[in-house]
Amino acid sequence: MEQRGEPARWVEEDPTTGTFRVRRSVMTDGAVWRLERERIFARRWLFAGHESEVPSPGDYVRRTVGTRPIFLVRGADGVVRAFYNACPHRGATICRQDAGQARSLQCFYHSWTFSPEGALIALPDEEGYGPNFDRGAMGLVAPPRHESYRGFHFVCYDPASEPLAAFLGNARDYLDLVVDQSVAGVRVVPGSQRYVINANWKLLVENDLDSYHAVPLHKTYFSYVAGLGGGTAMHGRGMGLARNLGGGHGAFDAPAPYGRPVARWDPLFGDEARAEIAALRAGLVARHGEVKAFRMADTIRNLVTYPSLLVNDGVAVTVRLLEPLGPDATEVTAWALAPAEEPEPRLARRLDSFLTFYGPGGFATPDDVEALESCQAGFAAGIEWSDMSRGMHRTPVHTDEAHIRGFWRQWAADVGGGPEPDQSEASGPVDWSTVMADWQAGFARAAAAAERA
Ligand code: FES
Ligand SMILES: [Fe+2]
Repeated sequence: MEQRGEPARWVEEDPTTGTFRVRRSVMTDGAVWRLERERIFARRWLFAGHESEVPSPGDYVRRTVGTRPIFLVRGADGVVRAFYNACPHRGATICRQDAGQARSLQCFYHSWTFSPEGALIALPDEEGYGPNFDRGAMGLVAPPRHESYRGFHFVCYDPASEPLAAFLGNARDYLDLVVDQSVAGVRVVPGSQRYVINANWKLLVENDLDSYHAVPLHKTYFSYVAGLGGGTAMHGRGMGLARNLGGGHGAFDAPAPYGRPVARWDPLFGDEARAEIAALRAGLVARHGEVKAFRMADTIRNLVTYPSLLVNDGVAVTVRLLEPLGPDATEVTAWALAPAEEPEPRLARRLDSFLTFYGPGGFATPDDVEALESCQAGFAAGIEWSDMSRGMHRTPVHTDEAHIRGFWRQWAADVGGGPEPDQSEASGPVDWSTVMADWQAGFARAAAAAERA
């Protein structure tokens, strides 16, 4: 491995030959992981939770974010706060359940008790500390930064970090597109999926942005949908966008190759849902206009906000938080996001779709997990480079890798301690009405071809 602080050649690119490659040791080396902790996870904004997880005063959720224990709790004043899950007294864990409701939070070690707003409100035998004891200075400790964007709460351990909205930059459009699908705001459907993948966290980032694998790896799902008479053969046919959003954030957009609970009917949902889904789509058009409604209903997208939040708006909406456990293991926590106003049976349809594709026992996630674990295992061969050069010679489409290269450039700049990376291949503004016309024509061609077959 290179010496720390050197402009490390972990990522090499040569625009003249159209090559971009990543050294595989960055997925296995403990020293690289230690640099990532210090230079990415201790410096960048990290997703911590969604406001709907703590709807009422006293509600809390705990989790590990960027290797540090934290919890979110809603105060009696309605404000959601983030605190380190470590007692100001001597460090014991305060929240000892993943989620709950409490009028006050009592540390189990010596019974110091805190309000949900973080104040130390009671402790046994306070007189033992003498007259200078300052209760006001012994409250729960908050991470240096905590902000939210449209209900998504993030923390940052670097007091000097830029504001969250500036950090998210162009990625905000993608969060907006999810939140705006609902009238009453989105909520996390209670319950989560948690699993550990024996693979480096960056492999999951790549996988989330990688559309190249969708058809070959997920053929079971596509044949399942086709067997029900649904889906389209458009995926992988050059229709789709790779968006390098800057700052390491990336996304792809593509015509929906399957139904979408938000407002795109597919035989998967049954004939009885047809009229209802058409009405939902009409509602989106009325609220947002034809072009944005088209994006919401008839296209899919995956978003990665650098470094570790994935929001996939496909057969349902899933939010995934990646928590590296070391260089070769990653814990994933996944939630389904749904319009707060969505009633049964629409919610059931969404969750069914969510589990069928994204669930840990669904049609897609086990394929992805198997692929990533096999890459990690393959790294033991000692082959030096992974290739990431698809689409460098052309205007990249979603099955190319411009958006993945954007992630890697930011990563290399952060971990190598270099300046902000150049934004070559940054995607410019998209003319969505032209895209809509193109993709609608593609849908029409696919439908005509299906008719003929
Ligand atoms: S460590 Fe929490 S009260 Fe002592
Ligand atoms: Fe996949």
